[in-house]
Parts: sequence; structure tokens; C-alpha cells
Amino acid sequence: MRDLKDRVAVITGAASGIGLGVARRLLGEGMSVVLADVEPESLDREVTRLSKTGGDVLGVECDVRDPDAVAALRDKTLSHFGGVYVVMNNAGVAPAGPMLDTTPADWRWIVDVNLLGVAYGVTTFGPVLRDAGEGHIINTASEAGLVTSSVLGMYSATKHAVVGLTESLYRELEGSGVSVHCLCPNLVRTRIFESERNRDDGAEATPSQTATIAPLREAIAAMGISPDDVASDIVDAMRNDRFWIFTHDITPDAAAVRFGDIEARRSPSNPYEGIEGLDELSDIG
Ligand SMILES: NC(=O)c1ccc[n+]([C@@H]2O[C@H](COP(=O)([O-])OP(=O)(O)OC[C@H]3O[C@@H](n4cnc5c(N)ncnc54)[C@H](O)[C@@H]3O)[C@@H](O)[C@H]2O)c1
Repeated sequence: MRDLKDRVAVITGAASGIGLGVARRLLGEGMSVVLADVEPESLDREVTRLSKTGGDVLGVECDVRDPDAVAALRDKTLSHFGGVYVVMNNAGVAPAGPMLDTTPADWRWIVDVNLLGVAYGVTTFGPVLRDAGEGHIINTASEAGLVTSSVLGMYSATKHAVVGLTESLYRELEGSGVSVHCLCPNLVRTRIFESERNRDDGAEATPSQTATIAPLREAIAAMGISPDDVASDIVDAMRNDRFWIFTHDITPDAAAVRFGDIEARRSPSNPYEGIEGLDELSDIG
């Protein structure tokens, strides 16, 4: 990796949580940062706040569900800063609830943001980095992209898809100078389980969805790590050219339990059995 100083980063879903933490850290590393988000008020607030600390920041309202909006984000980045070195496809939502209660509208929303939003980021910015022969693409998946639990079936499906596309991308860009990273966080203290705030189709959560999201919110408040810690993991992975970015040691262990089940042709077991807090969380609903 070349020095991050004086280079440009674009982060989607940057007005809150992990994206905001990474923006703060990359500014601290001397980068210029484009914050992209669908929430204009939070975006304005955070851009103003970060600018006051002396950061070279550009805010761009962008709905990652719209490929034209992602193309406009690329164009604004290039015309404002003249290049881009780090692209973090991070915007995400997390409706929860029993699979049999999910609706076509739920599926469209989560697939559009979590999967297609990442795909559009990759196909729009990827060629710019490849042609420059350098840079980093960081796709935010989740531990739920490697391990499954109840009531997060839609989320898990989209995050497995992000892991899959990111592994393919890694293989295709090997040797190109562009590093590809797959971020798989466990619980991080953010507003991810309040993501209904980002929903614009008027659909309301069903009682079973509301009931299942409550323990997830409590768990994130009680056990979640800080977005700043995730930002440190990301910078470390860029410096050491590491594909997998895990925020918790439990993640590869839980994945090993899952793949052990597959290898032994066993039905899915609870990968967190006996682990306080996570054990019960894996089987709510
Ligand atoms: N917090 C966790 O425990 C955790 C764990 C694993 C993975 N993740 C992933 O981390 C990423 C960031 O989430 P977070 O935890 O910081 O939550 P967050 O809700 O604090 O931040 C998500 C951001 O994405 C934005 N967003 C939502 N829909 C968008 C759209 N259509 N276009 C552009 N922006 C949009 C939101 O406005 C928000 O600013 C997500 O992909 C999430 O799935 C989070």
C-alpha cells in the first residue's frame, strides 16, 4: 500500500456508524474524504463537523440503489479531487424478522441497498482504480455473510452475496495493483438496527419484525464495539494487504463451525453455542 496521506477516499453510508468512523480515521491519516449518504440532514451535519476539524471533506447525497446516482458520485469525486484511491462500499440496512413474515417489498429494499449498492460501487469505481493501477476497494459484508442465525435471513442472504462477489473481485484484480478487502464485522455500536429510518416505500414493520429487532438493539448497545475500532482494523488491513477484515476473533471460529457442519454433511448448528450473549441471540424468534 502507498501512503494514504493526500489521497482520496469515497465512503458510502458515511453519515453514521462505521462509515463515519472510517471517514474520521482516514481524515486523520491525511486523506481527503467524500462522504456519501442517502440521509441529507445527517450528511450535512457530519460534513460540517468534520470540516471544522480541518478535514478536506466533500458530502454527496447518494442513494446507492440508483446506479446513476453512484455514477454521479464518481464524477463529482473525480471533478472535485481529481482522483480516488480508496472506495468503501458500506451503505447497508438490516430489517429483521422471521423469514415467513417477510414481504416482496422487504426483499427489494434490502437487496437493492446491501447487494446492488455494493455491486454498483464496484462496477462504477472499479475501472477507475484498475486503470490507475492502484487503490483499495473495501466492501462491507458482515459476520452474517459467513455464519447464519434466525430472524436475520434476508440480511444474511445479502451479506453472503457480498462475500461472494468480493471474493470473485479479489481473484479478478489480483496483480492489478488494486487491493480488495471484505469487511465482516460482528456487533458494532451503530444505528444499523434502526435502519427503517432509511426506508421510503411507506412499508411498516410487522409486529413480529418489531419484536425480533428489540433484542438485537439491546445486544448492540451492550456488546457492540466502537466504529473507531473497526476503522483501525480497516487501516491495518490496507497496510498489510489483507483480504479479510474481522473485527472479532469469534468470526473465523464461528465460520469454522459452519463449514465443519457442511464438511460432515450435518444440519446447521448454532455456531455460538455456549458463548454468552451471542448464544441466545442466534436463536431468537
Ligand atoms: N453495526 C453492526 O453491528 C454491523 C455488523 C456487520 C455489518 N454491518 C454493516 O456495516 C455497514 C454500515 O452500517 P452501520 O452499522 O454503520 O449502520 P448505520 O445505520 O449507523 O449506518 C448505515 C448508513 O447507511 C446509510 N444508508 C442506508 N441506505 C442507504 C442508501 N440507499 N444509500 C446510501 N446510504 C444509505 C444510512 O443513512 C446510514 O448513514 C452496513 O452495511 C451494515 O450492514 C454492521
